[in-house]
Amino acid sequence: MTTDTTAHLARPPAGGPSAPSARPGPVSFEHLPDGLGIGVAAPRLTWQLPAGTGPQDAYELELDRGGHRHRTARIDSAETVLVPWPGACLASRERVTVRVRVWTGDAAQPSPWSAPAAVEAGLLDPADWRAVPVGAAWPEDHDAERRPARVRKDFRIERSVSRARLYVTAHGLYEAEINGRRVGDDALAPGWTVYPERLRYRTYDVTGHLAEGTNTIGAWLGDGWYRGRYGFDGGTRNIYGTDQSLIAQLEITHDDGATTVIATDASWSAAPGPILTSGLYEGEAFDARLDDPAWSTPSASDTGSWEPVRVGLRDPRTLVAPEGPPVRRTQEIAPAAITRTGEGRYLLDFGQNLVGRLRITADGPADTTITLRHAEVLQDGKPATRPLREAVSIDTLVLSGDGPYTWEPRFTLHGFRYAEVDGWPGELSADDVTARVYHTDMRRTGWFECSDPLVNRLHENVVWSMRGNFVDIPTDCPQRDERLGWTGDIQVFAPTASFLYDCAGMLDSWLTDVRLEQLPDGTVPWYVPVIPGAPMWTPIQPGAAWGDVATLTPWVLYQRFGDLQLLRRHYPMGKAWVDLQERLAGPGRLWDTGFQLGDWLDPAAPPEDPAAGLTDRYLVATAYFAHSARHLARAAAELGNATDAERYTELADDVVSAFRRAYVLPSGRMTSDTPTAYALGLVFDLLAPEQRSTAGDRLARLVLDGDARIATGFVGTPLICDALTDTGHLDVAYRLLRQTECPSWLYPVTQGATTIWERWDSLRPDGSLNPGGMTSFNHYALGAVADWLHRVVGGIVPVAPGSRALVFRPRPGGDITWARTRHQTPYGTAALCWEQAADATMTVQVTVPAGCTGTVELPGRPPHALGPGEHTLSTAVDGPKAA
Ligand code: BGC
Repeated sequence: MTTDTTAHLARPPAGGPSAPSARPGPVSFEHLPDGLGIGVAAPRLTWQLPAGTGPQDAYELELDRGGHRHRTARIDSAETVLVPWPGACLASRERVTVRVRVWTGDAAQPSPWSAPAAVEAGLLDPADWRAVPVGAAWPEDHDAERRPARVRKDFRIERSVSRARLYVTAHGLYEAEINGRRVGDDALAPGWTVYPERLRYRTYDVTGHLAEGTNTIGAWLGDGWYRGRYGFDGGTRNIYGTDQSLIAQLEITHDDGATTVIATDASWSAAPGPILTSGLYEGEAFDARLDDPAWSTPSASDTGSWEPVRVGLRDPRTLVAPEGPPVRRTQEIAPAAITRTGEGRYLLDFGQNLVGRLRITADGPADTTITLRHAEVLQDGKPATRPLREAVSIDTLVLSGDGPYTWEPRFTLHGFRYAEVDGWPGELSADDVTARVYHTDMRRTGWFECSDPLVNRLHENVVWSMRGNFVDIPTDCPQRDERLGWTGDIQVFAPTASFLYDCAGMLDSWLTDVRLEQLPDGTVPWYVPVIPGAPMWTPIQPGAAWGDVATLTPWVLYQRFGDLQLLRRHYPMGKAWVDLQERLAGPGRLWDTGFQLGDWLDPAAPPEDPAAGLTDRYLVATAYFAHSARHLARAAAELGNATDAERYTELADDVVSAFRRAYVLPSGRMTSDTPTAYALGLVFDLLAPEQRSTAGDRLARLVLDGDARIATGFVGTPLICDALTDTGHLDVAYRLLRQTECPSWLYPVTQGATTIWERWDSLRPDGSLNPGGMTSFNHYALGAVADWLHRVVGGIVPVAPGSRALVFRPRPGGDITWARTRHQTPYGTAALCWEQAADATMTVQVTVPAGCTGTVELPGRPPHALGPGEHTLSTAVDGPKAA
């Protein structure tokens, strides 16, 4: 128990207390990493105040529009996040440079101006588009794998170029080149959206790619999600169409202001390239004998069998600019071990389960065929490929014999730690192979570590599973024949995700697709985008915890990123979902019909029936109904919709009453006497106040009787530690956290896991693979406990939208002696480091972001307000540690 608090030392931030010379950070636009090609005509602006300052009294913005400078008046406002665009809307292609200066802390003088930041509109008007889809005109068998095309065009530039932009997308995937040089560095563009409604284009600055004289533009094409085979149980081909086409518009502005536009049209040519086949699941086959490195230069115009293209159709109203960052290579990893297993055969271990592909450099005789087979785990020393199901994940390279050849597949991705190489000519060394890691290139915003290395590895595994599954859309897994936007997985993981990375733009974009795929009656599909016709999941039915993504995830993003417009945009989707739940539940207010996944992957469920958990699936459904109705009411209140706020509060209260009548016994015990039932009742606040302590005690008893091994699935796992913490059983939460026997969070860590597994026992204690048909080693859902690590062990608790108000409340326990947590909130850095010394002194260092308020709550002490900046507190603790 805490007995005394000594000195509270507030250290001035670097640069001095009011730091008059410090300037705010550069402005950023919407949720984008840069402002090029923005699709919003009035982008909102965000900046950060100098560390340690705040609140802001006023700001002034300066807009430079083509040499015309325009300043707003001084605007009295404390807002620094997503503030309204201050001038006339952007026109298509318009480039504006923005600076901000601020008044803080009663200073009479403003800060210096921020560094300038540029925003440039993309093509905002469908009439801006001249490009049409172009691709192969040769006959193709649309029921089989098809050889991808490349398309190209030569053009002349007669006058010097002052600026050039390429606006580009595809039916399928593309990588563009101009004059032999790659354009951009993103992968798997244009990503996956509900293509008939929204197809993303990107804007690239290609000024430096062009020269006076003859130029060439071209693109590699791949099948991707558009027409490749995708989905489980054999998948579906040609989901969106049978063509594979480029849509590209190169706009060149000359020094005299005149423009030249080169757009995909009937004047382009197509030819098969050296990629023989390419599929996201299958892998890629490449024949270097057919490679012509000069294909996208003028010199290639006479070579190869270039034929006229086939011209297709695309409604330009469906072309949209990105709302978040693209997929990119973010890391390279050298093999940790190379084992020769036979003539030309090697087993590579990268020491980390990752998502990406191999880049190899090989030198051998012509016609040598090298195959690369990928797997997450080994069984009997060999790659275990059964968990991949029908995603074979094999890349093949045929050498030309013309010397060393460096190759990496373009239009596929694999989830793997191991690779088996076959047919390698000569000796394979570590310099010949690199694993390249790919995912949506979000900004990292959250870090956590503590005195327990196993917990740190668990956290690291959560980060890796997020990286591997945030690949344009939030997926369930990256390796087998799924990689789908399962709604339940991200619903439970979003609080963790939004701490670790700035995922607002990416998830906002995906939620738009959820809305597009929502059925007219409000049903939210199990996964988005939907693949039509997947057996067993058709027709689409509503399911609790999965469909609740419609209400809960916009709310989480609003809380973490402070974006009220995002909440407003997705509100109708949540409302349609809750209205559907209401109809399904009927006057009794219990959602107790239909197909439900329940507490999916409860460890008690048999491997082949993960929905058969111990907790009544309709208890889960009604709990989520209440939770969604309550969140919808909260959202309505934030949006100023008092009528809805009242209506859905009443609905939520009714559902809670019905829930109690049906599932809670007068004693506070529940009809499903399971950890998940109590966790739902407590964390979703469904129990009467007098029932809470009985429920909390019962939950703790169940956990202890179960030897502190986890007994929850997708639904209970994200909640159980909070349920224990909130009812005075922090010590039991720590016991659960630190259990290493199977099933537990740390069991996989003790087995050498480097990502979060789908099942508690994807690899069983006897070393064998789980026999279930779904056995992924890279699934983030059960990693949702990291949110509790950040808020409770780490102690950073956001309590206002955008984390503008924070509580710093470390809850030490479980022999953990220190923890360090840091979060880049939209306002700036929040950090908390605590340490408990052997003499029972607890030292706490807190960083409150600029412009924010903090409250520190140390064990047993009254709350204490802190302003922006760094603070050190120390507390004498006597008796046993807080647990
Ligand atoms: C996916 C899950 C998903 C589940 C729902 C699985 O195959 O991998 O993570 O939520 O299906 O049934």
